[in-house]
Amino acid sequence: MNPQSTTLLNYHQRTKHSLQRYAKGPETIDWEDQPDPFRRFPGCPPVPLPAPGQNLPVRFADLDQPQNIPAQALSLTSIGLLLELAFGLSAWKQYGPSRWALRCNPSSGNLHPTEAYLIATDNYLVPAGVYHYLSHDHLLEQRAQFTDTAAESAVFIGLSSVHWREAWKYGERAFRYCQHDIGHALAALRYAAACLGWSIDILLAAADADLATLLGLDRHGDFKHNEQESPDVLCRMQISEQAAVSYQPLLALSATASWAGKAESLKAYHLHHWPVIDEAAAAAHKPQTQENPWQVEMRPPLPTACAKTASQIIRQRRSAQQFDGNMPDLAAADFFRMLSAVMPDAPAFGCWQTLPKVHLFVFVHRVAGLTPGLYVLLRDATSLAALQSATASAFAWQKQHDALPFYQLHSGNFKQIAKTVSCHQPIASDSAFSLGMVAEFSATVQAAPWHYRRLFWECGIIGQVLYLEAEAAGVRGTGIGCYFDDSVHEILGITDNAWQSLYHFTVGKPLEDSRLQTLPPYSHLQGES
Ligand SMILES: Cc1cc2nc3c(=O)[nH]c(=O)nc-3n(C[C@H](O)[C@H](O)[C@H](O)COP(=O)(O)O)c2cc1C
Repeated sequence: MNPQSTTLLNYHQRTKHSLQRYAKGPETIDWEDQPDPFRRFPGCPPVPLPAPGQNLPVRFADLDQPQNIPAQALSLTSIGLLLELAFGLSAWKQYGPSRWALRCNPSSGNLHPTEAYLIATDNYLVPAGVYHYLSHDHLLEQRAQFTDTAAESAVFIGLSSVHWREAWKYGERAFRYCQHDIGHALAALRYAAACLGWSIDILLAAADADLATLLGLDRHGDFKHNEQESPDVLCRMQISEQAAVSYQPLLALSATASWAGKAESLKAYHLHHWPVIDEAAAAAHKPQTQENPWQVEMRPPLPTACAKTASQIIRQRRSAQQFDGNMPDLAAADFFRMLSAVMPDAPAFGCWQTLPKVHLFVFVHRVAGLTPGLYVLLRDATSLAALQSATASAFAWQKQHDALPFYQLHSGNFKQIAKTVSCHQPIASDSAFSLGMVAEFSATVQAAPWHYRRLFWECGIIGQVLYLEAEAAGVRGTGIGCYFDDSVHEILGITDNAWQSLYHFTVGKPLEDSRLQTLPPYSHLQGES
């Protein structure tokens, strides 16, 4: 096995939470030391975007047939909407003197390690160059201007992670959460694009080093030590017609860039250091690759009864912090709609042209027509035999649905088990259902170490679909990064790392915390020019 894959398999093993001990992290948290969740680049010319909050007529149900949504013209208004609906603020919450922002994309611990950049190849939209999106102020900061422009007008979005922002709270396990957040951000970008009648191409072939150069992340003097950003992924916006997807011409443009500004300090003391995250990041570093996109014919999921617009659903998305354990059963139609929306041939996965590696093991607590118990949704039916032999031999594997590869494994009350294995969090048991996303693991990481990150991205995309689908069904979801890895595996009968549970999720009827005040997302900008 190559040494990078070994490093990542070891990283994964040592960052497992267990009933006996949590993965290594800071023992106490000094909230005064929390890193600034908003990165700013003083010294970069700001480019204001049109006022946020505009509603689009596209209904959430229209996203089932994205090819029928008329494409909006490229303009600062449409780009502003894209960035807002993907990464912008959705609300402020206040409790006593504490006030914090929520965004359209969720993030473990609300720490938001993900940063987003826009690259314009010509002067049509903005002067050709590289721009950082500052969601707090809903504006672009021009990091670089290109002297040359490309013959072909194109817009790219690049994503990166400030690992340390997440590690501040979660210590060694934080590298995993940063990758989940990238998956959520990719799906958030895809949904925002679909609202505009656009789509995205994820350029998985790109080398991390090239992405770092394109986004200016390798300009080490522009970032404070420990607050650097790691390159993650580059996407090309497909606006009017399907254009070529190579990123190579960008490198020539980037060679003509003149850069401005420096990243402001995140205003924290860096009391703890987690070198194992740097080791994992180095091991998962991606060279340029030849990718063979996995193709599948897309089809709409099972129908939704949601009459809201897509932008409403995106802006109202929140994580439930508590569920009503006495909720009426979730309607079967809503449950199966959600499952059908996370299948790899559903529209949300049109951008993810990668063989599905992740399946859902579902603890059904309160779903009409289903006996409570443990179930599985196979996202790739060809994995059936492998999963059957990797999991408990006593599982029944009784197919439950005509259109979906959804099987009952074991009937019974799994509420207490779901809660216990989810770090004792009641959100896993008071819900309609909670689930573990089980990935084909060691072989994938051995084949290419950077696939370690991709497995988490796939889970994050699934999580984002579930968040929005839950809102559309009138319930609410929450991502669960805190779970006892090997206790989950024990319940499933998994005895080695061929398959591993990489992310959990729960959906139910939320209980609002009446002590919290909710404020509009961008009122702080009103009155500013
Ligand atoms: C990868 C990931 C892991 C998360 N893990 C947990 C968790 O274990 N428990 C929990 O209550 N919330 C969890 N959350 C929810 C976050 O705390 C929430 O997204 C964040 O506070 C922002 O709030 P919002 O989702 O309402 O915008 C997780 C979210 C993500 C994206």
